[in-house]
Amino acid sequence: MGIIERPRRLRSTAKLRAMVRDTNVAPSSLILPVFIREGLATPKPISGMPGVVQHTKESFKSEIDRALNAGIGGVMIFGIPQMRDALGTEALNPNGVLSSAIRDARNIAGDELVIAADLCLDEFTSHGHCGILDTQGSIDNDATLKIYGQMAQVLAQSGAHMVGTSGMMDGQVGVVREALDSANFNDVLILAYAAKFASAFYGPFREAVESELEGDRNTYQQDPGNIKESMREVRLDVAEGADIIMVKPSLAYLDILYATSLAVDVPTASYIVSGEMAMLEAAAAQGSIDRERAILEVLSSVKRAGASVICTYWALEAAGLLKKNFA
Ligand code: PBG
Repeated sequence: MGIIERPRRLRSTAKLRAMVRDTNVAPSSLILPVFIREGLATPKPISGMPGVVQHTKESFKSEIDRALNAGIGGVMIFGIPQMRDALGTEALNPNGVLSSAIRDARNIAGDELVIAADLCLDEFTSHGHCGILDTQGSIDNDATLKIYGQMAQVLAQSGAHMVGTSGMMDGQVGVVREALDSANFNDVLILAYAAKFASAFYGPFREAVESELEGDRNTYQQDPGNIKESMREVRLDVAEGADIIMVKPSLAYLDILYATSLAVDVPTASYIVSGEMAMLEAAAAQGSIDRERAILEVLSSVKRAGASVICTYWALEAAGLLKKNFA
């Protein structure tokens, strides 16, 4: 036959395949997003996201215990306050839903989990935007930055190891870094959502945080057609002091993630967002795809594209599947 190279030889047993596999996802690289709702009596499921709920104060603590036991890397906490206003005032309340949750999580987990918190105003504003508005109703970028700086200090004071700047305001990483450093939080990390796209895949999340968004986020989140713009955002965030660079969503943006991971010398992260989860879950529920295999394949693809860190609602379950997979 004259066939000298036979790639199939490397695939002939499970042990061989495992031995030469380049990409293995470790549970320690996974971050679980967790929602906590102020004043909730019982956990409330979110449609389209099987197993994901808005937590009560008590069920939130159990979730932190589960995260510890699963051996994942960390949690990303989203707080939903009872009171919303145009300025997102509750975001700065040191005893508000998000700050209290951070404190509880840190008390339970110490340094055994990376406690990250969403640094954005959309959960706290009555209009649902990630920033505050000027008299014309447009986003006031620079006034928003002042609040982000204060919020960063409040979250750090509560015990967050890391803040996730997800608002896509210009200059946010620099302002947050300066605010943290000026309050002696030099060790608090910034996970910068550098390339965050205006995506339809955030659909179920909007229910998860009971978003009251009026209009859209097209003047601050990125246009899905652009990669150069992402590289610019990434360059700026690294220059402003980002510790980790995030690309979001994941699956429709693996090219951006790959390009980013080659372009920067800080770790890159990717967020498998609510709609991406919902899509896979819906197909699996219909019997069209093998759910567990599909989850592992998706995690692998994101890691292979360059993500050191993966935010995923499947983190707890995936940690179990991955341990099995390694064995
Ligand atoms: C904004 C934020 C959003 C998500 C994470 N942080 C929503 C948005 O930008 O509209 C989406 C996460 C998901 O869909 O899973 N604070």
